[in-house]
Amino acid sequence: MSNPSLLILAGDGIGPEVMDEVKKIITWFGDKRDVNIDVSEDLVGGAAYDAHGTPLHDDTMAKAQEADAVLLGAVGGPKYDVLDFSVKPERGLLRLRKEMDLFSNLRPAQCFDALADFSSLKKDIVAGLDIMIVRELTSGIYFGEPRGIETIDNERVGINTQRYTESEIARVARSAFELARKRDNRVCSMEKANVMESGILWQTVVNEVHQAEYSDVELSHMYADNGAMQLVRNPKQFDVIVTDNLFGDILSDAAAMLTGSLGMLPSASLGAPMANGRPKAMYEPVHGSAPDIAGQGKANPIACVLSFAMALRYSFDQGAEADRLEAAVEAVLASGARTADLLAAEGETPISTSEMGDAIVAALDASL
Ligand code: IPM
Ligand code: MG
Repeated sequence: MSNPSLLILAGDGIGPEVMDEVKKIITWFGDKRDVNIDVSEDLVGGAAYDAHGTPLHDDTMAKAQEADAVLLGAVGGPKYDVLDFSVKPERGLLRLRKEMDLFSNLRPAQCFDALADFSSLKKDIVAGLDIMIVRELTSGIYFGEPRGIETIDNERVGINTQRYTESEIARVARSAFELARKRDNRVCSMEKANVMESGILWQTVVNEVHQAEYSDVELSHMYADNGAMQLVRNPKQFDVIVTDNLFGDILSDAAAMLTGSLGMLPSASLGAPMANGRPKAMYEPVHGSAPDIAGQGKANPIACVLSFAMALRYSFDQGAEADRLEAAVEAVLASGARTADLLAAEGETPISTSEMGDAIVAALDASL
């Protein structure tokens, strides 16, 4: 059997430097665990715009469609703020999500014991936290038509449309219920059915899918604003949260901070199975391109490393090796190693991006 293929799109800002650390880890798995992955690389975001005048070249899109998985770093930066909306770095990312039809975005928020003190919330609220946000990623207000800025009655009007078909709701609901069955068997669905028709349909369809196919899973519903409050009040009440594209964007950032740092959080974006049985898949850290610290060796590579762990688990059938990599990260954190984003007190010395990568490789060696 041929090796699985991985297309790396490091992107902008801290993307390339955190990706360098993941490459060390990919090499380690090839050398020490015989997990061989054919890696290729290309450009996305501002880097692609600089080279080709577009944030995602058609050839890159075609490569992404063919790869067994895509690993993306980050896109965007102040340099590109002046660009027309249609060629902004973010459009490259959104095109990948849309054309690969990656409808189910898994954003785990797990609090590592070693970092429980670091969260802006009290330790007992976050210690042991392990929740999964399933965000719909290919529809809703991010893509709905009509959209644009128009002049109506002599003034400018900004327009975006929240739109969900029942099949779009049903498929992301199924993916949340499937995940829940492998976890604590509970799903909380979040919308704004009190003010939005699309929210009423969302709630209705989630209930229908639940009744017809997943009545063994415990299902609850919450308005998304209450959900945001509950996430910071008592996050451990949740197991799996399923929600739409925009609410998922916001709620997952809030959930990320519970764990201490955005620099810790990975994500997987999954679509339908391909001919080889693997799901269409893209993996990316939840953090952005952090232009303020780019190129200084300050970035935390762990979110990107853990995104690769998710690729091992969901794309490459290497669940045990994913566990090994996650345990290595946990061991490094337990040893007290911290990048600048994780420093609790002034006066502590952070380690650099590459030192963090090396420490994870050393912990992997120790796991053998
Ligand atoms: C995310 C990001 C993106 C989004 C941006 C970069 C387009 O915030 O993945 O959460 O809004 O989806
Ligand atoms: Mg976001």
